Amino acid sequence: MFGAGIPVLFIVGLVIYLRNKVEEDYNNRHPNQPELLSTTPRLDASVKGLDGQTIEAYPVTLLSESRRLPRPNDNTCPICLSEYQAKEMIRTIPDCEHYFHAVCIDEWLKLNAACPLCQICSTLCGSQTVRFPFRLIDQPQYCGYQDFELSCQVQETTQDVTILTFPYAGNFSVFHIDYAQQVLQLSYSEGCLPRILLQGLNLSGSPFMSVNTQSYTFYNCSTMVQYPGVTKIPCLSGFNFYVVAILTDGYTPLTSVCLEIAKVMVPMSTDWWEDGMTLGWNQPDCRWCESHQGTCLFENVGAGLQARCGSAIKHGMLH
Ligand SMILES: *[C@@H]1O[C@H](CO)[C@@H](O)[C@H](O)[C@H]1NC(C)=O
Ligand SMILES: *[C@@H]1O[C@H](CO)[C@@H](O)[C@H](O)[C@H]1NC(C)=O
Ligand SMILES: *[C@@H]1O[C@H](CO)[C@@H](O)[C@H](O)[C@H]1NC(C)=O
Repeated sequence: MFGAGIPVLFIVGLVIYLRNKVEEDYNNRHPNQPELLSTTPRLDASVKGLDGQTIEAYPVTLLSESRRLPRPNDNTCPICLSEYQAKEMIRTIPDCEHYFHAVCIDEWLKLNAACPLCQICSTLCGSQTVRFPFRLIDQPQYCGYQDFELSCQVQETTQDVTILTFPYAGNFSVFHIDYAQQVLQLSYSEGCLPRILLQGLNLSGSPFMSVNTQSYTFYNCSTMVQYPGVTKIPCLSGFNFYVVAILTDGYTPLTSVCLEIAKVMVPMSTDWWEDGMTLGWNQPDCRWCESHQGTCLFENVGAGLQARCGSAIKHGMLH
C-alpha cells in the first residue's frame, strides 16, 4: 500500500496541530504572547498508536535550570520546533536517541507508535547513504528489510566500505545505491567477478536481480585478438594465454587462435570485466514515492513488511 497523500497531509496536519498546541500551552503560561489559532488535525485511521499506559511508561526528565539533557541532543523539540525551557517535561522513547516535549511526543505516540525521527533511519557508510529499504547490520529492524541488510567495513586509510552479502554469491562492495531507479552498483570484493560468472552467479535468496543481462562467449586465446568489441579479462588471463569475452552474436574468432570456454549471461555494467555489476530490486517498490520527494518506510513498527510512502518527516517541517 502506497497511499502517499494521506500520511503526508496527516503528518503536516499533525505537526501544525502540535506546534499550535504547544504554542497554546506556552501562551497559557506566558499570557502576554499573542494568541494563536489552533487548527484541527487530519487524522488517518489506519495509523496505529500506543495506549496511554505504554506512553506513560516511557522515561521522562524534568529539565533543571541548566536545561542539560542526559544524552547529547540539540535543545529544540523536533516535533513542535520550540526550544526546551527549564522545568519542562521531556520524554524519550526506548531505542530512540531523541528527546521531545512530553506534550508533543505523547500526542504523536497516541497516533503513531514509532519514534518520528528514528523511523527515517538514514545513515552513512563512507559516502554511501544507507536508508530504507536498506539497513546497516547494527540498526534497528524497523529501519529496513533483513534481505537489504548491509554491513559497514571500517577502513584505516580509505573510506569505509559498504558490503552486501549474498547467501550463495559472497560479498560485494556497494558503490552506489540509486534509490529512485532501484538499482545498485556493486563490485566483487573477493576479486574476479568473471570467474564467478563462469561458475554461474547464484543470486538465490536475495531480492536483487540483473536489470540488463547480455550473453557473452568467453574464449581462451593463444594470442590477443585485436578486434572491436573483444574484451580482455585480466583476472582470468595468464602470461601466454588471453581470456576474452565477445558478445555472443558478434564476431567469432578463428578456432586456430581461440577455444570457446562457455557462454555466460553477464549482468551488464560498463566495467563488468573489472568486477563491476549492476543489480536492481522490484520490491518494495518505492519508485513513485522517491520521485515525489518521499521516503519509504514501514507501515508501522512490528506490523509486518508492508511499506508506505511517508515524506513530511524528511522533507517537511520535522527535519
Ligand atoms: C563478508 O562480509 C561480512 C560482513 O562484513 C564479513 O563478516 C565476512 O567475513 C565477509 N566474508 C568474506 C568471505 O570476506
Ligand atoms: C544456489 O545455490 C544453492 C546452494 O548451493 C542451491 O540450492 C540453489 O539451487 C542455487 N540456485 C541456483 C539458481 O542455481
Ligand atoms: C587457457 O589455456 C591455457 C593453456 O593454453 C590454460 O593453461 C588455461 O588454464 C586456460 N584458461 C582457461 C580459463 O580456460
